[in-house]
Amino acid sequence: MEPNKTTTAPLINLSQKLDGTEDTAAFARHVAEGLSQTQKTLLSRYFYDGQGSRLFQQIMELPEYYLTRCEFEVLQTHKQAIAAHFSDPGFFHLVDLGAGDALKTKILLQELTQSQKGFDYVPVDISGDAMQQLRGTLQKEMPLLEVQAVVGEYFSALDWMHQHKPDRKVVLFLGSNIGNFKEAESQNFLRSVRRYLKAGDKLLLGVDLRKDPETVLKAYSDASGVTAAFNLNLLTRINRELGGNFNLEQFRHYALYNPQDGVMRSFLVSKIEQEVHIGALQQSYHFDAWETIHTENSHKYTLPQVEALASASGFKVEKVFQDKQCRFADVLLTVAS
Ligand code: TRP
Repeated sequence: MEPNKTTTAPLINLSQKLDGTEDTAAFARHVAEGLSQTQKTLLSRYFYDGQGSRLFQQIMELPEYYLTRCEFEVLQTHKQAIAAHFSDPGFFHLVDLGAGDALKTKILLQELTQSQKGFDYVPVDISGDAMQQLRGTLQKEMPLLEVQAVVGEYFSALDWMHQHKPDRKVVLFLGSNIGNFKEAESQNFLRSVRRYLKAGDKLLLGVDLRKDPETVLKAYSDASGVTAAFNLNLLTRINRELGGNFNLEQFRHYALYNPQDGVMRSFLVSKIEQEVHIGALQQSYHFDAWETIHTENSHKYTLPQVEALASASGFKVEKVFQDKQCRFADVLLTVAS
């Protein structure tokens, strides 16, 4: 180690926009595309503006939303074993894709630093604000931890890592984000991650498991209406940022779980026949009564499905960590040789 080496390096910003904010032109294009299809859709990546992120924080605290609590339990219960697997063999870069406030990752960071494993931490997030804040809190809470925060898309970050951080990598993709991809996309995503990894590298993947369909449904259709507000906030965002005139009273949130394919589907449903105008697109959109806008899929997996997904993407399952009720799993994958 060089003398005077600071443990907290400056932010690396790989996003096109310097402040890391979302590009309004891309938002407009995606909304125009999505609302022109026969099955209208809006992309779930646009849920998370300021208000959306606050509502999602509330979702995570809902009694019905078991996912976050279960993953906490998994990490808390198995942190020692996970840390031991990570550091076998030796030094590694811990790359946290979509780190956000890293609340869950901190469980592992504490364990890894306490057990004096050799590693540095590379949180990656599209939000510049989130990375700035995380850098600050880690500096205070864990001053000895080496942190290199990266602002940007997942693959720009992995590409940057490939050039600047050559050591062994352990990648985290927590929180069941994999479940929000379409079937083929989840495989493509894992394959692309795999391309940046070498023998000995690992991936800890969060997956939500099959369970009582009633439990799943309630997590996406809570009694207090927070999830409804979260889904409807997409329309508020279009109104504000693209000059839309969606009347939120005339749409409702609807969630539907199919236990046969394990897919939770979320919709916004038009309660009446209506026209909605979006100023920035210079376009009106017609809605039939009870026509749907599809907003998100959340896959629930069986463990054999996770294994199949892993092997189809060039990984093999090293170890499955679960909560007591087997609702959620963090699956440790290694690069298949
Ligand atoms: N991606 C999260 C999930 O699948 C976010 C989420 C929670 C969500 N509730 C929702 C997305 C309702 C759309 C609608 O769990």
